[in-house]
Amino acid sequence: MRIERASLFRGRFTLPGDKSISHRAAILGAMAEGETRIRNYSSAADCASTLACLRGLGVEIRRDGADVAIEGRGVGAWRAPEAVLDAENSGSTMRMLAGALGGRPFRTVLTGDESLRRRPVERVAAPLRRMGATVLTTDGRPPMTIYGGRLRGLVHDLPVASAQVKTAVLLAGLQAEGTTTVREPGPSRDHTERMLPAFGATVERAGLAATVRGGTRLRGAAVAVPGDASSAAFLVVAALVLPDSEVRLDGVLLSPTRTAFLDVLRAMGGDVEARLEAADPEPVGSIVARSSRLHGTTVDPALVPSLVDEVPALAAAAAFAEGPFTVTGAAELRVKESDRIRALVEGLAALGARVRELPDGLVVEGGAPLRGARVRSHGDHRIAMALSVAALGAEGATEVEGAECVAVSFPGFYALLEKARG
Ligand code: S3P
Repeated sequence: MRIERASLFRGRFTLPGDKSISHRAAILGAMAEGETRIRNYSSAADCASTLACLRGLGVEIRRDGADVAIEGRGVGAWRAPEAVLDAENSGSTMRMLAGALGGRPFRTVLTGDESLRRRPVERVAAPLRRMGATVLTTDGRPPMTIYGGRLRGLVHDLPVASAQVKTAVLLAGLQAEGTTTVREPGPSRDHTERMLPAFGATVERAGLAATVRGGTRLRGAAVAVPGDASSAAFLVVAALVLPDSEVRLDGVLLSPTRTAFLDVLRAMGGDVEARLEAADPEPVGSIVARSSRLHGTTVDPALVPSLVDEVPALAAAAAFAEGPFTVTGAAELRVKESDRIRALVEGLAALGARVRELPDGLVVEGGAPLRGARVRSHGDHRIAMALSVAALGAEGATEVEGAECVAVSFPGFYALLEKARG
């Protein structure tokens, strides 16, 4: 993808459905009895991977664009897949489905693309084994083989806050004997906990712990998916760093477990407003962002789980700021779709930014003007989008190699950039 400098970034948009919420709605719908209807289902390739895997388990799903209907017959009706289930690039699909499959009395093999086959899955395998499932991994990575069955409830302390692992254990817990509690060292996105009551399950929450009761039968529900908060981050940053710019995003997910990037951008001097319009089951509203003179900041490591997917967008913003921007406590970024710390440092440096890699984060010194260059996505959608946004503000033209991977989370990204760039 070739990207020229943009003179401004303006427009009013509604975004495709949030990826995290879409995965959960599909999996819970497939586990439930009765029909589940999902509106504004994410257009992300990752969420199509979830539907494909569920179909492989015999679940009947109809999709018409952003409308998804699932004929739930209960998790008991899932049948052993005839082939290996391929989660492609989607870590959420693999880890969350592994949890649901922990309670199913058959053998499933879950695999993924080259990137996913490099990512850790032992963190989900270990608690499932303690609950009574047999789970094999390939040196801690996919392919993973799950022989599910009778599970017993568990109290699981997550060593690192992870919403995917939390969800996996809760989905197994719904099928286990007794209660299952997951405790986290810090808050991670809580979409599963917020969605389960609509499907008829009770979730008890106390501080950083969530508990479900085994033997709970889920019933189908209607889910309206708010706009993707993580996709919003790239558009907000584009509006902040380009001159004469303003974007308004309507109907966006404003869960505090996902919007810490807005707080960081405000701390950097960004003119960003978020207006809450609904609170239940998820906070939803609009975001308005306007051109701003940004300065660096130090991100509180405790906030990292609430902005883990937005570090690439924040680092792009920091390349236009005065003074240093520092993130630490983010070692998890090294095991995402790519080693995001390394990929960001490489890409932003190629564009002329002064950047330093830390073992668990990075420093963007700021203040250096960017100039177009050839940069690599590393096959990682968020790296491609972060470098593309930086390219909008760089002198000359930038070539983003492997930019097609944006379809993993935001297939309409480049079309939207074209519309907004004036
Ligand atoms: C997700 C959780 C996060 C995030 C991922 C989606 C989710 O991962 O990075 O993109 O939907 O639960 P971790 O669970 O590893 O923190």
